[in-house]
Amino acid sequence: MSGCTAAERAVRLFVATYGRSPTHLVRSPGRVNLIGEHTDYNDGLCLPLALDRDLCVALRPSGPDTVAPGDDPHWGGRLHLVSEQDAAPAVVQLPPPGPDTPPSARASGWARYVEGVAVQLAAAGVDLTAWHGALTSDIPVGAGLSSSAALELAVVVAGLSLARTGQQGTTSPDAPSRMPLTVPPMDGSGLARVVDVVELARWGQRAENEWVGAATGLLDQLACAGGVAGHALRIDFRSLSVTPIPLPAGLAVVFLDTGTRRELVTSAYAQRRAECARASQALGVPSLRDVTALPSDAEHRLDEVALRRARYVLAENARVDAVVAALTGNDPETAGRLLVEGHRGLRDEFEVSGPELDAAVEVAIAAPGCYGARMTGGGFAGCAIALVDRTQVDVFGSTVRPAYTARTGRHAVLHICAASEGTSITTLDLPTS
Ligand code: GLA
Repeated sequence: MSGCTAAERAVRLFVATYGRSPTHLVRSPGRVNLIGEHTDYNDGLCLPLALDRDLCVALRPSGPDTVAPGDDPHWGGRLHLVSEQDAAPAVVQLPPPGPDTPPSARASGWARYVEGVAVQLAAAGVDLTAWHGALTSDIPVGAGLSSSAALELAVVVAGLSLARTGQQGTTSPDAPSRMPLTVPPMDGSGLARVVDVVELARWGQRAENEWVGAATGLLDQLACAGGVAGHALRIDFRSLSVTPIPLPAGLAVVFLDTGTRRELVTSAYAQRRAECARASQALGVPSLRDVTALPSDAEHRLDEVALRRARYVLAENARVDAVVAALTGNDPETAGRLLVEGHRGLRDEFEVSGPELDAAVEVAIAAPGCYGARMTGGGFAGCAIALVDRTQVDVFGSTVRPAYTARTGRHAVLHICAASEGTSITTLDLPTS
């Protein structure tokens, strides 16, 4: 099915698996982060955009009270999700397991994300309806483009939209129901609630932190949930305000997939978090956001590693607003220079880059039309991004590909990113088969 979009493939996979048509389609994007890396768990700033690379779920409710005549009761009473990329389906019996279920009794692999979201929603009082679905994705896994956040948010939005209630969100065939969604009351008040993107994102994050066991911040889920077409999002993780920043039309954001992969769960991510916490503790502040400059005695109060981490985080927060100002003022040279500074900080002070990421950034910076480049995401492997003059993206690409291969022996995949809308659900009006 090459050449088909993830959405088309999801519908076909659904029909091939279940022998009838899906009723809903969820689209959930990946993300790249322009600047503001490893700042989210320090209450800092970042500037991601939702990608035009989607994860899609075609689905149909199948719970006992929504089963239509002719529905196979086999699919009732659980979430059942097949994937284009994995022979084993994700199956979650409803009600889902309790939050205290030991890790050894939880689903494994990608199914754990699905189960984790169901657990979080159910624990929050959402009366989940059973559904069966088919999942496809154009977001490479483990490439630092937030494929797992896209999956979490897809299941959050499906779960809330189809939850047993009179209020079924705002789905319609021709108007994608972006947030907010109207969801059932969870506090016994009898009042339906409107869910904003922060709340949606938090459900995904809780699934990842508490069920999957990765102590990540909120960046990925919030970028995925809150994406706005043509805009990056300035996110302040202290106030949780999300401000769309228009991207200049002449500027292309290109991601360069280095072809390297690393599992965040097993990376040094948790160690970096601990080092930042150690730095803020030594500075006597709740988080590194509470300092804009290090005190003169910082070298005595902080150990050498914590000092480097803190220096990076403080400078990175400042870079976010400097990049916002540069983009708003249509000054791509300054924005590009700040990205390069950010990469050096990640490489030398925060120490989360890797040889292939450094090579990709270096060949990108040297290529025609490039204003600047940096690694994006958690680090160690995955993708870099470059800001490129839109009129020169072709020559940029034809220079970068062979140069990267000459340096690393690997093939880089390049993609011109279009900033896209966040996770949405639409109803489908397909012939019932
Ligand atoms: C991963 C995490 C995010 C964020 C980034 C680094 O993507 O999931 O929460 O910390 O790394 O900016």
